[in-house]
Amino acid sequence: MSNENTIKSEKSPDESHAEVIVRMFPSDANPAGNVFGGEILKHIDMVAGIVAQRHSQSNAVTVSMDSVNFIKPVYVGNVLKLNARINYVHNSSMEIEVRAEAEDIVSGMRTITGTAFVTFVALDKDGRPTHVPKLLLRTDDDRAKFEEGKQRMQERLKNRKKA
Ligand SMILES: CC(C)(COP(=O)(O)OP(=O)(O)OC[C@H]1O[C@@H](n2cnc3c(N)ncnc32)[C@H](O)[C@@H]1OP(=O)(O)O)[C@@H](O)C(=O)NCCC(=O)NCCS
Repeated sequence: MSNENTIKSEKSPDESHAEVIVRMFPSDANPAGNVFGGEILKHIDMVAGIVAQRHSQSNAVTVSMDSVNFIKPVYVGNVLKLNARINYVHNSSMEIEVRAEAEDIVSGMRTITGTAFVTFVALDKDGRPTHVPKLLLRTDDDRAKFEEGKQRMQERLKNRKKA
């Protein structure tokens, strides 16, 4: 594995953290009139991809999405805020945690509506997995999230489907 970009050998989760805010439109709705889960998944994948590419400074692709929970509905007209941070890295793989919050602009009410873990793999210019910077763990929270991410990754790999 290689990484030809000039990048730091270690980066903290704060250096790649990303937040995306999108307004939900009628074209995002399911037949019942609430926001379609697939539309939210698209935004989860996109914001997690920003974090993975910021951390790795390379092309990064989604290899797995798990523990997706839609806790509360998101309504047309809501503002959807997605918060993403990197929890764990191994060689080329990275676990990104995403939390989705919906805001009713008129009432100002904010609700956590969904959470997910997305695993990305960094690829070199030839499409092969490439090393990513180690995670610089500055706080107890960083260390706890790293350990939890490591355990989830081990479970994920046990259940991994090979082509
Ligand atoms: C990413 C890809 C090149 C990895 O190929 P591979 O043959 O599995 O490569 P490896 O076995 O060497 O694994 C590479 C890394 O991916 C990780 N990985 C592979 N599948 C995984 C999975 N389902 N969940 C979590 N990690 C996974 C491995 O653990 C390894 O991590 P490490 O380098 O940190 O140890 C290949 O799976 C791929 O191209 N997938 C399609 C990705 C894509 O196009 N996504 C967009 C949506 S279609």
